[in-house]
Amino acid sequence: MTLYALATRALRLLDAETAHRATIAALKRLPPREPPRCDPRLAVSAFGLEFPNPLGLAAGFDKDAEAPDAMLGLGFGFVEVGTLTPLAQPGNPRPRAFRLTPDCAVINRYGFNNQGHGPALARLAARRRKGLVGVNIGANKDSRDRVADYVAGVKAFSEVADYFTINVSSPNTPGLRDLQEAGALRDLLSRVLEAREAATTRRPVLLKIAPDVTLAQLDDIVGVARALRIDGMIVSNTTISRPSGLRSPLAREAGGLSGAPLFDLATRRLAQTFLRVDGQFPLIGVGGIDGPETALAKIEAGATLVQLYSALAFEGPGLVARLLNGLAARLAQEGETPAARIGRAAAERARE
Ligand SMILES: Cc1cc2nc3c(=O)[nH]c(=O)nc-3n(C[C@H](O)[C@H](O)[C@H](O)COP(=O)(O)O)c2cc1C
Repeated sequence: MTLYALATRALRLLDAETAHRATIAALKRLPPREPPRCDPRLAVSAFGLEFPNPLGLAAGFDKDAEAPDAMLGLGFGFVEVGTLTPLAQPGNPRPRAFRLTPDCAVINRYGFNNQGHGPALARLAARRRKGLVGVNIGANKDSRDRVADYVAGVKAFSEVADYFTINVSSPNTPGLRDLQEAGALRDLLSRVLEAREAATTRRPVLLKIAPDVTLAQLDDIVGVARALRIDGMIVSNTTISRPSGLRSPLAREAGGLSGAPLFDLATRRLAQTFLRVDGQFPLIGVGGIDGPETALAKIEAGATLVQLYSALAFEGPGLVARLLNGLAARLAQEGETPAARIGRAAAERARE
């Protein structure tokens, strides 16, 4: 048994949050290593950036930017840190993260626990900046001006973020998802884009949405995103819905569900977004990816890039190399690049 497999087994015995803290602490102590070389056929250009491969680490794993280089060293083509809010906040009371093992799923209601902008900024400024790191920004729970919190994020991180994600889709900060409503979204994104233009370095701005939006809301969101010419969208965050067939009794816990049972809903919303965006900007597909098949299905539903988080808790870090090797092998067999497959199955996947 490899060291990875042993560690993964041992971590499963701990509660989800303790296991996660132990993983981050171990990753921080790893000596720096170069990312493994990956098949050049997997390289992707998007938002003016060159990604060595299309697989990213989704937000929430490394909220405080403690170990982005260790995660890049596992082979991820990019890492998204955050969500970061201007001020440190403790989040919701524990327990607040649950592994639904029989369902290969996670429920979390962390509520943006993070150390605030300062410590993450210091860490990102100190790194060598090899490998792409996006910064996911949000608003403090008790902020009086939430839009100002996002603007502060863009101002703070514009020298160190390769891209920004505007997170209006976490279910665990009351009222946050109301920022997806057309008028509020237009105001938020206009002010974020203004701040981006005023910054010394102009970074791509992406919007991350919930899978629980209705199609009418999606029409509005994409309408605003296209009108304001944002650089891309991430579909999707966790769901507050509970798909039928969940086996774990923990399925009744409140919070956002991620992992395998999110795959169908998130992939459908991705395809529906792809059809509405009509090629104006690229999409990142996230939700339930656990191997090469599900990654390729996201690409075929309309994703230029993909991200994952929950599957790491079940499969361990070896998943990254396994997924990328599998994807490269599939594409080599068919003599194709990921770009050639984007959106091929969008019409079919978009059906309700
Ligand atoms: C424990 C946990 C914490 C998360 N925290 C954040 C977060 O802070 N910001 C965010 O945008 N998404 C967060 N997410 C959502 C993930 O980035 C991702 O969108 C979602 O989990 C679906 O992907 P998956 O099925 O591969 O996990 C979190 C997910 C989990 C499981």
